[in-house]
Amino acid sequence: MASKDLLKTKGDTSWFVKDRFGLFIHWGLYSMGARHEWLKNFESITSDVYDSKYFKHFDPDLYDPEKWAAAAAGAGMKYFVVTTKHHEGFALWDSKVSDYKATKTPAKRDLLRPMVDAFRAKDMRVGFYHSLIDWHHEQYMVDTRNHPQRNDMELLKKMNKGRNQMKYADYLHAQVKELLSKFGKVDVLWFDFSFVDKDDRLDFTKGKGREAWRSEELYRMIRKMQPDILINDRLDIEGMFGDMKTPEQFQPRQCITFNGKPVVWEACQTMSGSWGYHRDEATWRSTRQIISTLIDCVSKDGNLLLNIGPTSRGEFDCRAMERLQGIGKWMHHHSRSIYSCTSAPAKFAAPENCKLTYNPEKKRIYVHILDWPYKHLHLDGKAYKDQVEYAQLLHDGSELLFKGLEPWQQPHEALSSGKANPETLTLTLPQTEPPVEIPVIELFLK
Ligand code: GLC
Repeated sequence: MASKDLLKTKGDTSWFVKDRFGLFIHWGLYSMGARHEWLKNFESITSDVYDSKYFKHFDPDLYDPEKWAAAAAGAGMKYFVVTTKHHEGFALWDSKVSDYKATKTPAKRDLLRPMVDAFRAKDMRVGFYHSLIDWHHEQYMVDTRNHPQRNDMELLKKMNKGRNQMKYADYLHAQVKELLSKFGKVDVLWFDFSFVDKDDRLDFTKGKGREAWRSEELYRMIRKMQPDILINDRLDIEGMFGDMKTPEQFQPRQCITFNGKPVVWEACQTMSGSWGYHRDEATWRSTRQIISTLIDCVSKDGNLLLNIGPTSRGEFDCRAMERLQGIGKWMHHHSRSIYSCTSAPAKFAAPENCKLTYNPEKKRIYVHILDWPYKHLHLDGKAYKDQVEYAQLLHDGSELLFKGLEPWQQPHEALSSGKANPETLTLTLPQTEPPVEIPVIELFLK
């Protein structure tokens, strides 16, 4: 178990649980291969081959981070997390402890600094994804689990001769130190990832976890340098998970708890089937699906970190842009149901085909209608009846009537008995669904 003082340290989550929506950016040499950021692993490519293609030719001539920041802010995102280094080992900034960096490619410049500046200028918070895994560093032990050279035992043994994982850990710490000292206040540090089975954590040619990264020492250094920073849950520190849980590629079915207590969490999700730019991947989620995922996160007290993999020329591709714009259009009218919102108190049950969020300061419930009903929306339960004082459609602020209902406007049981159900509040909706991706009703509580 990690020592008590370590377990107690926490970053400042107060902004995070209000902002709710961030942009994940996976950008590196793999954007040139354009067939998944794991291509080096998937195709067992050696560093020599990889570098002779990608490192040698990486030249994002159309890169304009102000355009990225504008697109993200326009979609309603409040923070971003960029891959400063992914598993391939390539650094986007001018790292002093490595030559495997953007400044040594035809790009010839630090790509991270202008990105940080551009997003800050749009009032967005700054986060760094940093890969614990490194398929390029000469001291990183080649392992049989997920290293590109895992399938060639002879080569693996040869490569591992003279390697010392602790020297790699020194390098990892040194790079993190640079990231935390050269870019001003960093709001999020997002590590990825540990992989250990019970019995292989000390054999770095198999698994790698807290011993391989010297996670506790790393964690202490980070907290000392930037006390408020948020650190995610992938460092494999015993007995703790950091500041937020990070479900990936699935949506939790309820609010997430740890040791019985609710915790801060952020789902990270892709728009298509890849994190890095993938030219031929065609299974893209629709704008509506993504908005619905964002709503789903907030309705369970979580955030959404939505990913884009920019192209190797430095642009968001048109499929991603189309979705960002669609989300932005929806957020323009509906961000009130997202920012500063949480799950609704349990006494408010979600009506059929709806998801609820709640603003505890303003005391407003947001009913997201996923399937527009025939005419009435029934809010069952005393809590609604007792507490709702006004209702409107959120996109245009138009009133929805719910008072003075005739018995025939009540749900079925009331209709057959001829008496209004005292426990149901029934809203009368316009016949045509409002022209927005997902309509929202705003309920003002007493
Ligand atoms: C996985 C993948 C990685 C991606 C990450 C995002 O761990 O290894 O490619 O960056 O998910 O959470």
